[in-house]
Amino acid sequence: MCGIVAYVGHREAYPIIIKGLKRLEYRGYDSAGIALMNGDLNVYKKKGKVADLEQYLEGQKLNSTIGIGHTRWATHGEPSDRNAHPHYSENKNLAIIHNGIIENYASLKQDLENRGHVFHSDTDSEVFIHFIEDIQQNAKCSLEEAVRLALSKVVGAYAIVIISRDNNNQLIAARKGSPLVIGVGKDEFFLASDATPIIEYTNEVVYVNDLEIAIIRDNKLTIKTIENTDNTPYIQKLDLELEAIEKGGYDHFMLKEIFEQPKSIKDAMRGRINSENNHLVLGGLRDYMNRMLSTNRIVIIACGTSWHAGLVAEYIFEELARVNVEVEYASEFRYRNPVINEGDVIIAISQSGETADTLAAIELAKSKGAIIFGVCNVVGSSIPRATHAGAYLHAGPEIGVASTKAFTAQVTVLTMMALSLAQKKGTITESKFHELLVDLEQIPTKVEQILAQSEKIKYISQEFKDAKNFLYLGRGVNFPVALEGALKLKEISYIHAEGYPAAEMKHGPIALIDEEMPVVVVATKDNSYEKIVSNIQEVRARKGKVIAIVTEGETHIQKMSDFVIEIPATHDLLVPLLAVIPLQLLSYYIAIYRGCNVDQPRNLAKSVTVE
Ligand code: F6R
Repeated sequence: MCGIVAYVGHREAYPIIIKGLKRLEYRGYDSAGIALMNGDLNVYKKKGKVADLEQYLEGQKLNSTIGIGHTRWATHGEPSDRNAHPHYSENKNLAIIHNGIIENYASLKQDLENRGHVFHSDTDSEVFIHFIEDIQQNAKCSLEEAVRLALSKVVGAYAIVIISRDNNNQLIAARKGSPLVIGVGKDEFFLASDATPIIEYTNEVVYVNDLEIAIIRDNKLTIKTIENTDNTPYIQKLDLELEAIEKGGYDHFMLKEIFEQPKSIKDAMRGRINSENNHLVLGGLRDYMNRMLSTNRIVIIACGTSWHAGLVAEYIFEELARVNVEVEYASEFRYRNPVINEGDVIIAISQSGETADTLAAIELAKSKGAIIFGVCNVVGSSIPRATHAGAYLHAGPEIGVASTKAFTAQVTVLTMMALSLAQKKGTITESKFHELLVDLEQIPTKVEQILAQSEKIKYISQEFKDAKNFLYLGRGVNFPVALEGALKLKEISYIHAEGYPAAEMKHGPIALIDEEMPVVVVATKDNSYEKIVSNIQEVRARKGKVIAIVTEGETHIQKMSDFVIEIPATHDLLVPLLAVIPLQLLSYYIAIYRGCNVDQPRNLAKSVTVE
């Protein structure tokens, strides 16, 4: 939510910042702005996309070797030029970019207004920079000291970068709860919400920790805590290729990421499983595996698509490892005084590793003595750093706002966790364990076979592009797949869609079915096959249009469906990894036919760092 970029060094800052903002646009895209020291401290900002800002600035003299930039996802104040960042301080001596929310901004604002401050936006961020300047003036201290004092008084979350008119070789940054990475080049520094704007200039980065202040002055980086003790910057090497963050010939990141799944699923398994010698090891979990072995209860916390992956995992853990699993929305869990016992194990799932509700739920569970495992994609993000142990997805950057390859990588990693636990607990036989490893290893090839049917799925999409509603049905482990299919359609095509366990249909949703209603049914050959056939009959009897996801070679459902998409056979528990692929493609093509911007759907942002 909101992307921030800043540069100080010997190059022109403007092109670096604009390019960086475009890379971060997945985090928010309702307005953009930039501040440069070109003659004076100048702020330029515009409602709309980064490209609108770029167009607005065409032909202007923007030479500066220092600058800050922001792409916004509105929280306080509607999307508009005036609410766009950066924001000036009262005397226009300072400008700030801010990602996060200052919760006590209203009282700070009132106090500043009482003392004559005039505000030009509705944002909490403008209050923040006025407050800093006010402290600087009243306490007659340095900017660095004023930032430190201000941070000790504000409540909320932030990643900020401040530029000052008085020093064109200084940036001051800080974070609490919102991500901030510093790229370290030769006599130059790049600051951003994630590493994607940085990677083409340097692969050496410092991840700023919560409650740290970074001071870049005269080509030197100093990190201090908010209590003013020095912390040595810990420089890490980025494991990220530039091509991983570019579209690589695809029309959209979402399509690229859907087609990357054979590779991303393989990468999630790489070095972790080998069926030939019955090998399965998740290195990051080793030290805490005994806690998992002895627990009676696993609680999975996540949001959105990651929550759906958690629901799939519930079936898999319970079936294989015979352990009680509960799956919770992080946002609900954190606010309802949940019962957590010391032996409980929490698995927090998050692609971005930054979701505010998931982070807060982790802290709550930790405070009650639970052990927390993380299943995250973005290396070095906040959630992996807040957990005791974990396993990365290794899916590569996911930039399309609608999550696709992260879901399949999450299910793959969670399946490996369940298998590892089941083997150690002795709740599955060695032969079943081996069989599942073999089936898992074959998933990437089977995903390729499904992707090869994309033209057919595109054709089906055209048939349904004008539908007003969609129903998605699945049973057992495929019920969460139905939820995920419905979510994908809703978020990128704006068609109302609902996912239901197929048997629940007759308890209400069946009333919705008529000749206008497309019903997508995951109807693969498994132990609920007969039951799902009956559900399809019920839809047909009410003239609903059936799009069935069936197991390759099946003919019975073919006859009673309007369209079928075949997926290769696999173990029942692994079907979600295959069945979700046609649903991702269906939503993608429907959105394209409707002229929607699939990579930047309205009102959404990739990384939800506000609650
Ligand atoms: C849906 C989607 C969101 C995220 C959710 C959690 O396509 O992307 O529902 O899954 O915001 O995000 P993470 O996984 O980053 O915690």
